[in-house]
Amino acid sequence: MTLKKSIAILEGDGIGPEIMTETIKVLNAISEKYGYEFTLIKADFGAASFFKNGHPFPDATKEICDDADAIIKGPIGLPVNEMKKIPIELSPESAGLLALRKRYDTFANYRPVYLPLSCAEFSPLKKERLGSGLDILMMRELVGGIYFGEKVEGKNTEMKFARDDCYYSKEQIERFALVCFKEAEKRNCQLTNVHKSNVLATSRFWNLLFEETAKQFPSVKMNSVLVDNVAYQLVINPSQFNGVMAFENMQGDILTDQAGGLLGSLGLMPSACLNPLTGKGYYEPAHGSAPDIAGKGIANPYSMIGSLAFMLEKSFNLKKESDEIWQALTGVFAQGYRTKELAGKETSSELILSTKEFGDKVVELIKETK
Ligand code: IPM
Ligand code: MN
Repeated sequence: MTLKKSIAILEGDGIGPEIMTETIKVLNAISEKYGYEFTLIKADFGAASFFKNGHPFPDATKEICDDADAIIKGPIGLPVNEMKKIPIELSPESAGLLALRKRYDTFANYRPVYLPLSCAEFSPLKKERLGSGLDILMMRELVGGIYFGEKVEGKNTEMKFARDDCYYSKEQIERFALVCFKEAEKRNCQLTNVHKSNVLATSRFWNLLFEETAKQFPSVKMNSVLVDNVAYQLVINPSQFNGVMAFENMQGDILTDQAGGLLGSLGLMPSACLNPLTGKGYYEPAHGSAPDIAGKGIANPYSMIGSLAFMLEKSFNLKKESDEIWQALTGVFAQGYRTKELAGKETSSELILSTKEFGDKVVELIKETK
């Protein structure tokens, strides 16, 4: 029987539409090769949607997303002067992205940090600092903590304070810890638990519950490391963290961007945002919408295409097809090609690919793979 799936496509803002175009090309290559039927439904989301519909996540989009088997989403955000015109309660970050995460309770965010030594030159670190290369799966809790706590807005200079509460329930921490341990067990690797327990009550509770969960996984070695030290160690000796790393929401937000820096480009950071209990999920690059380079055809579509690979594996159980995409992505670099932001002074101009050319190369490699 033919596999049939419906996919909601949220292109987003800035470079979103151009990197999504390449991603759809790759999806079409997979469906042609294997005879799958993917129904794609585009829907408005993000800052452009606010200006068009008065909301960054309009009801029509919610319905499309509710009904879809999976959701794939580009980055959001327009230049600062445009963003300033949007009232805070309708900001694309809060009323769009955080609302999307909350709606589907996508508490597990997977952000792989992968840099084989063959791509060591991408990193700003010296090669000898990269050990045997980087292969870290950063797991970020995505629907709790300070981003979702109560807020008091400091609306004017007469206000005496502003406030963001950081809240984590036992259930929120336990379900996330379980997913992280299972992932480490599956990969047969260590788990680094990141925290700030020398100051934060939520971190102490977090550690307590991670230690409790650890008892169910005797084969997984867990280390708990303070987040400030992790920031330092990531620069000094990142490969010591090869394996799984677990972060609460805000710490994970910050350090996954730092990891993009280690890779030499945020364009190399795909991600999956899942509720492993319900199976509902959406897929997005971990980076922003880069309005400064939008429309120039130079954005790197790697992270968007990698997010598609995640979708095939995690939402549709198509592991082989997903692996083919990952291999094609790294295969393009192995052939010596670079996107603009990864090109060095020594890279000859024929090897520098536009957004579209990169997508074409990925499709070529997928067609060639038996
Ligand atoms: C991310 C982004 C978002 C976050 C923003 C856009 C709300 O930075 O996905 O990492 O803070 O989670
Ligand atoms: Mn972020």
